[in-house]
Amino acid sequence: MTLRAQRAIDACWTIARFSESSDNITRTYLSQPTHGVHEFLGAWMERLGMEWRVDAAGNLRGVYRGDGVGLRRLLIGSHIDTVPNAGAFDGVLGVVLALVMIEAFEGRRLSYDLEVIAFSEEEGVRFGVPFIGSRGLIGDVDEALLNTEDRAGITVKEAIEHYGVAVSELAAAVLDASALGFVEFHIEQGPVLGDVGLSLGIVEAIAGQSRYELTFRGSANHAGTTPMRRRRDALAGAAEWIGAVEREGHSTLGLVATVGRAEVVSGATNVVPGEVRVSLDVRHGWDSARALAVENLLSSAHAIAARRGLGVEVVLQFEDAATAMDGRLAAYLETAIVATGRRPHRMVSGAGHDAMVLAKRVPAAMLFLRSPGGVSHHPDEAVLLEDVEAAIAAGLYFLQHLDPNAFDTPV
Ligand code: GLV
Ligand code: MN
Ligand code: MN
Repeated sequence: MTLRAQRAIDACWTIARFSESSDNITRTYLSQPTHGVHEFLGAWMERLGMEWRVDAAGNLRGVYRGDGVGLRRLLIGSHIDTVPNAGAFDGVLGVVLALVMIEAFEGRRLSYDLEVIAFSEEEGVRFGVPFIGSRGLIGDVDEALLNTEDRAGITVKEAIEHYGVAVSELAAAVLDASALGFVEFHIEQGPVLGDVGLSLGIVEAIAGQSRYELTFRGSANHAGTTPMRRRRDALAGAAEWIGAVEREGHSTLGLVATVGRAEVVSGATNVVPGEVRVSLDVRHGWDSARALAVENLLSSAHAIAARRGLGVEVVLQFEDAATAMDGRLAAYLETAIVATGRRPHRMVSGAGHDAMVLAKRVPAAMLFLRSPGGVSHHPDEAVLLEDVEAAIAAGLYFLQHLDPNAFDTPV
């Protein structure tokens, strides 16, 4: 198992080389380096006797046929896009582990088809909207999403066509009735498993999230000649509000509130900032707590702007409710972890995952691997060899013991 685990880690580092930047890992939705990842994973799938394709949402999908025809299908995988200046394991590890596990079968067939998915987009970096890949599988890529533009004015639809897949084929990306469920292996990205000293976790639920973009508008003017009392400084207003965001996050147990991006439009040292765009990301396991925090933060943005003579525009980019994982699939995973000699920790995921999208259509479950130091969305993101070994052992047990007939056909 050690060799297999090392192979999985090495494959993540190989994939990390496909980046938009020469000095860090950055791979946004259907950017040029994604072709390299698809070729690497596709070639690996071919060696395993799998058929693969890239669907109209840009997801790479390979099928390891089971023993028979007309079988149910289990989906397994994660995403291959990254945040800017990312680590090597967020998302990618889940895809690679699926292939390492299939490799371990040495051609033996399961009683169901296993479809490995490398989702094209989970982070929401390029278009401000996350989960474009997994939304393709539940038939939720609508015209509004297709017409969303990135910072260069390219729409999602154009990005798909430029990549070389036909957007008209979106219907063929949607899950059919053979799908029995989805399982995602992923690094925890937080400190919980490290704190309890355990390798693996079972996700019971994924926190809901709200993402906004706010634009504060004042008036740009000369930094040397405009007296302080006559300024309408958009950045000073945004900064005051960012302080309120941090205080709101501290005010409620389990709440997290983040401004992760701030941009001064036409900013310069000697110009009073006239326009500032900031992002807002709010998450909680309880939807009512998240909704209340969002309400407080939007009203404080309006109050701060009004007091300072600024305008503020608020655009909701994405919202999803807290999502429970499937109890039966989670129980299968838990049994597998115990049977292979580990103690699982049940937990809530603060990070969003493709599993929360798939859960709208099919039973979905997640297995977490400890994140050393709780570090993620950062180049120092890591995994421990022993934890990867434990995940592979549990995963193999899970795949071999799963009864495909225990799951209803989705409606
Ligand atoms: C994805 O990594 C997210 O939770 O934002
Ligand atoms: Mn991820
Ligand atoms: Mn991520």
